[in-house]
Amino acid sequence: MRANTTASSSSSSAAATPCSSLLPCLHGHGRDCKTAAYVVAACLAIVTFLVVAALDPGTQASWFLSSSSSSSSSPPAASSSLRHSGGVAGELLLATSSSYSDGGGRNITGKDVHEEAPRGDDGRFPSLLPMVNSSSVHGAPDELSIATVAAAQAPAPAPGPEQAKDGLLARKVLFMEVMMRLFKSYPQVQRRRDVKLERLELGLAKARSAIRKAIQNRDNQPPLADKDYVPVGPIYRNAYAFHRSYLEMEKLFKVYVYEEGEPPVFHDGPCRSIYSTEGRFIYNMEMDTRMRTRDPDLAHVFFLPFSVVKMVKTIYEPDSHDMGPIKRTISDYIGVLSGKYPYWNRSLGADHFMLSCHDWGPYVSSANEHLFSNSIRVLCNANKSEGFNPSKDVSLPEINLRTDAVDRQVGGPSASHRPILAFFAGGNHGPVRPVLFEHWKGRTEEHPDVQVSEYLPRGVSYTEQMRRSRFCLCPGGYEVASPRLAEAIYLDCVPVVVDDGDYALPFADVLNWDAFSLRLRVADVPRLREVLAAVSPRQYIRMQRRVRAVRRHFMVHGGPPQRYDAFHMILHSVWLRRLNVRITAQQQ
Ligand SMILES: *[C@@H]1O[C@H](CO)[C@@H](O)[C@H](O)[C@H]1NC(C)=O
Ligand SMILES: *[C@@H]1O[C@H](CO)[C@@H](O)[C@H](O)[C@H]1NC(C)=O
Ligand SMILES: *[C@@H]1O[C@H](CO)[C@@H](O)[C@H](O)[C@H]1NC(C)=O
Ligand SMILES: *[C@@H]1O[C@H](CO)[C@@H](O)[C@H](O)[C@H]1NC(C)=O
Repeated sequence: MRANTTASSSSSSAAATPCSSLLPCLHGHGRDCKTAAYVVAACLAIVTFLVVAALDPGTQASWFLSSSSSSSSSPPAASSSLRHSGGVAGELLLATSSSYSDGGGRNITGKDVHEEAPRGDDGRFPSLLPMVNSSSVHGAPDELSIATVAAAQAPAPAPGPEQAKDGLLARKVLFMEVMMRLFKSYPQVQRRRDVKLERLELGLAKARSAIRKAIQNRDNQPPLADKDYVPVGPIYRNAYAFHRSYLEMEKLFKVYVYEEGEPPVFHDGPCRSIYSTEGRFIYNMEMDTRMRTRDPDLAHVFFLPFSVVKMVKTIYEPDSHDMGPIKRTISDYIGVLSGKYPYWNRSLGADHFMLSCHDWGPYVSSANEHLFSNSIRVLCNANKSEGFNPSKDVSLPEINLRTDAVDRQVGGPSASHRPILAFFAGGNHGPVRPVLFEHWKGRTEEHPDVQVSEYLPRGVSYTEQMRRSRFCLCPGGYEVASPRLAEAIYLDCVPVVVDDGDYALPFADVLNWDAFSLRLRVADVPRLREVLAAVSPRQYIRMQRRVRAVRRHFMVHGGPPQRYDAFHMILHSVWLRRLNVRITAQQQ
């Protein structure tokens, strides 16, 4: 965690950022948008907002500011174990197994969470979870979310409290059993059939089976027609299935953005800086006319439009190391939404998503147990060792935007014009970079083709160095993500991810990262030069060509988002996660 550094750097950048540069992201989500008064208000927000809240605790601001409001939903004790269901099954599911040959279904209600059994709408559904087999249900209780298959179908005898407690400590309580205990304390939320929901689920079921067919037909079908772009080639895990899925998403997918909350903390976010993907997404989502719906009954997913970066700027007490106020804001927000609308309770958050590029995104999402363990969390800090679950959560690329778009910065020369083998410049912090520096910093005399340093000499451009390098090293910083990944891709430099497998790479549910990047374990850092030099010119040319091909998916355009760009890839990742669950209203 980078408590003080982040806070201080963000507050200083807040002070340094003129309001005009906020404009591209400013909006009133359709209300008083673009009026001068609004802009002024937003610019003064940090001040006025606090004042208003202090003066009038009855305003909307109060519930996301007040630190006293302890009415925040305090989930039953048993649910604390739910969070453990997060990371465990990830390896088996969508993002890590081959393309979509997975993505299983969970029927989710306010009362139960079911894992789809080996039989579904068309009798074959379930292979969205190919690795699941019934023997593993009891044999490997660590696989919590998978274990629900059997538990949901034929509830095992509920464990006694003692037994459950032990299991909980051992992290071996079946997810379902926990759920059953949990729900004893819940009132029944919904008794009527929910026809609208059933219709939505039917649509999703059709899309799911179309995608499943595409997975199976991968090599036999001619590519699908598309006026803009046809995904093909090894950069995809399964290009044909991705294309099908993408088109299905465009046809069907509807996102509802909750209107509650006021800027700057809600409905706004940073559109420049390393956190830009957070603000960009919020802005583009709110401006979207194609997939955004104003009718929550038509929505497949619900977006919680808060910005953790803005919270750190406005709510967090600098240097306090206290995330409490931020967490309370989030938990109060969910408390309000779940009281006002039926949607959160109906799925316990499973069809809701949050998005944050801030390092703290994952930590503050624990403000609400279900947000952490059920909701789709779209995070730059996608560390699998910290509860990031690739089958449910989405890895958000970190993109350091200084202007409105990256269009003008892209491209670079071929390998023969790249004298540097490996390049890195950046601060010495986090777990990986010290190792890199220890072995490679200041060794340019010996190995002029390995350029690893903290600072670039005066007059040397970072971008130009990347353009002159064949491989760009992308170790994480304080946390796993690095804007270098996208930068390398923009500049046709083959990225080298340096980590021990904690980082869930962006869009890895669709993209075959091995085709256009290298991954180096930290222990192999001393052999860095050797490993990279072993890539033949032929291989390199191929990889670089693929880097160019994959660039489209990391692009942020000035003006409205374009098909297959970063915004739509993020949405597509959310779409895939939503396809993994099936929500049913409580019937009785
Ligand atoms: C899940 O939903 C599907 C379709 O509504 C239904 O056929 C199936 O029986 C449900 N599974 C469970 C465990 O409720
Ligand atoms: C099924 O589960 C057993 C026991 O956990 C495991 O050994 C086996 O490999 C699994 N089969 C498949 C196809 O995953
Ligand atoms: C959702 O559940 C919470 C907690 O049980 C409850 O307070 C709230 O009223 C419920 N919301 C709706 C819309 O029923
Ligand atoms: C990922 O999280 C683990 C557990 O907190 C931590 O030890 C590790 O350093 C993190 N990885 C990176 C690359 O930051």
